[in-house]
Amino acid sequence: MPRSNRFISPDEIASEHWFRLATGLCPACKMVQVLEAPPGDEIFTADYSYLTSGTTAMRGHLKGVAQSLKLELRGRPDPFVVELGCNDGAMLHTIAEAGIRHLGVEPTQVHADYAASRGVSTLTEFFNAELATRIRDTSGPADIIFAANTICEIQDIRQVFDGAAILLGPEGMLIFEDPYLGDLVEKNAFDQICDEHVFYFSVHSVSELAQRCGLEVIDVEHLPVGGGELRYRLARRGCYQTKPSVQYHLAREARAGLSQLETFVAFAERVHSIARQLTDVLSECRARGQRVVGYGATMKSATVTNFCHITTELVEFVCDTTPAKQGLLTPGAHLPVRPPEAFADPYPDVALMFAWNHEAEIRAKEQAFTNSGGRWLRYVPEVALER
Ligand code: TMP
Repeated sequence: MPRSNRFISPDEIASEHWFRLATGLCPACKMVQVLEAPPGDEIFTADYSYLTSGTTAMRGHLKGVAQSLKLELRGRPDPFVVELGCNDGAMLHTIAEAGIRHLGVEPTQVHADYAASRGVSTLTEFFNAELATRIRDTSGPADIIFAANTICEIQDIRQVFDGAAILLGPEGMLIFEDPYLGDLVEKNAFDQICDEHVFYFSVHSVSELAQRCGLEVIDVEHLPVGGGELRYRLARRGCYQTKPSVQYHLAREARAGLSQLETFVAFAERVHSIARQLTDVLSECRARGQRVVGYGATMKSATVTNFCHITTELVEFVCDTTPAKQGLLTPGAHLPVRPPEAFADPYPDVALMFAWNHEAEIRAKEQAFTNSGGRWLRYVPEVALER
């Protein structure tokens, strides 16, 4: 597989980096993780293109997070919020506007700069135990450490949890949200698996990890964003009472077999079958002379296109709203990325829904495509071409 978020120009094809994308289940702590991810400092480089504020759904979601954190902090004297991977400040700028003491830790310079331009205090570094100590020594302990779609991407995860244990105040909380293994397996969402998502968390595996760092999971909440995520709340062991949600999810995970290898062997068989069906449907469309265009040059699409060998013979191009991706080629499969206007110029016969986690928003916005007789093709949770 190529790097899932590294969109390239034609002259970079020869030097594109490839690696083996494979996941494993730890027999001890039951963590599911990528086995050979490229190092973080090779991924989160100065030109890293993912923008948290890039979609309405994520912007709205993070604004909601900021509002609820503000409520949670009400009444605390001079609270301090730290966000790991604050990206373009989509969450923290609301915290900053409220005059709450905060710090965004963001290794990608361009995002940290943009967040800073919105009034967010940032540090352009990777979070680890050493940085946690420095932050605590200069700014004091954190009331809340928040992270969205960040912790699952940090290879040295022990550093993050140890760092949180150092930085949190006695009653502080680490609140983070990441794609949920339970959703991934249930929805056959194999395209969530990519180089950047090093860990595929379950309540079981996060609890094991927390325990090793003096923390515990005290609450979990299922979120509909990003194809299905869990929000975990962790605190120092014994500081808060554990909510029933933790036991509820642990019992569900046990029923779903999320700690058993057989579950993932069966998952892999389903994924191979989906890949075969998807390429068959695409080939049939092309044999009928139909045009197929991809919708959303997501990280997920890099996994699907490369795993299923989808090239421009099957999918003409991918449209995407992110200016930094437009004019480039998708990783590995080298499908051209075009602006959204190209989608309607003229409409294709079939649109392959790569950004399936934004399906409702996209379908509502692209009603004219459907009205013109266009059909959506999806592959999560199964392959389906609209009649
Ligand atoms: P995400 O799955 O990580 O949120 O990324 C969504 C990608 O899809 C991002 O590159 C923007 C793109 N996109 C569109 O091009 N059009 C849309 O209407 C939406 C919602 C997303």
